[in-house]
Amino acid sequence: MKKNKSKILSLDNFIDYALYDKKKGYYIKKNPFGKNGDFITAPNISILFSEMISIWLVSYWNHLNQPKKIDIIELGAGNGALMKGIINSLKNFPNFYNSCNFLIYEKSKTLIDIQKKNISSQKISWKKKLEFKKKNPIIFIANEFFDALPIKHLTKIKTNWYEKYVEILQNKGKFRQKKIDVKKYKKDLFSEIIKKQKFIEYSPLSLKYLRDIGKIINTNDGGLLLFDYGYSENKFKDTLQAIQNHKYANILDNIGNRDITYNLNFYFLKKFIQSLKKLKSIYINQRSFLLNMGIMQRAEIISKKLQFSKKADLFYRVGRLIDEDKMGSLFKVMFVTKKNNSFKVGF
Ligand SMILES: C[S@@+](CC[C@H](N)C(=O)[O-])C[C@H]1O[C@@H](n2cnc3c(N)ncnc32)[C@H](O)[C@@H]1O
Repeated sequence: MKKNKSKILSLDNFIDYALYDKKKGYYIKKNPFGKNGDFITAPNISILFSEMISIWLVSYWNHLNQPKKIDIIELGAGNGALMKGIINSLKNFPNFYNSCNFLIYEKSKTLIDIQKKNISSQKISWKKKLEFKKKNPIIFIANEFFDALPIKHLTKIKTNWYEKYVEILQNKGKFRQKKIDVKKYKKDLFSEIIKKQKFIEYSPLSLKYLRDIGKIINTNDGGLLLFDYGYSENKFKDTLQAIQNHKYANILDNIGNRDITYNLNFYFLKKFIQSLKKLKSIYINQRSFLLNMGIMQRAEIISKKLQFSKKADLFYRVGRLIDEDKMGSLFKVMFVTKKNNSFKVGF
């Protein structure tokens, strides 16, 4: 962008610029994960998170009658901790492990390099497009992927709808509004949603991914296991936020140096998946999912061999994943699959 020249972008284009611009984008420039980064994600808190997903994968593969070939693809793999943990855990289940082909779909070249350094396996490759020639089942895993996708804000004032824009001048932004014809957004927002809401926060790109993944699940079989923070109310909330150094920050300052994120509306996502006809979804909070998958039993087994300080650390980390006031209830786990699929393990 030229100096002193302002630029006006719709909120989703602004977020895309701030997070993924080839030169200035947050996820393109740096590794934001861990203590020295801006935030920490579940697979970086405890290996037990990846282990519980691995057990879920084995159970689902059994439910699908143990297909000889199956793809496990992670969407947006960050520093690769989850995929690394899954590959290592699944080595304990050789029949399943031998059937697996592991894939990562990642946008940031910087993070792809980090993932390649972190995961050493002959069985993994990186995919640029979500296109699959082979017809074996595919399981998509997404931890905090959807919350990293750009969103739009639409607001109704009296009888008119407005979309939020951001004017950028010298690395600082200002919110603007533009009047819109809300009917043009109908592909994503069915009329029932538009009629009931005065404010809508949604990600067109997320819905595009869900449509594409839905088609793949319908042809190949498999599913999507999604972990993200969000809420279940049928009213949209304004949850747009920026995070820097593990603290909330202003999204309009210091553009390209802060993560921008939001909370998913699971009520709306469930409705959207229902509208895709042949698909269904179920969801539960992260606490219940991890407890149902046996995280406490696993922690007990591991802790037997540990010294007291390590034992305390292990349970402290499990607590961060499942406690109601930490990630336990804010985070939800959603499973999307074919309508006739009855698999419910973990839910
Ligand atoms: C919040 S991070 C979550 C990382 C990881 N799943 C974890 O749990 O640590 C979001 C990830 O999604 C990636 N990402 C965002 N948008 C993407 C897109 N459109 N296509 C592929 N990857 C994307 C980011 O680069 C980053 O790796």
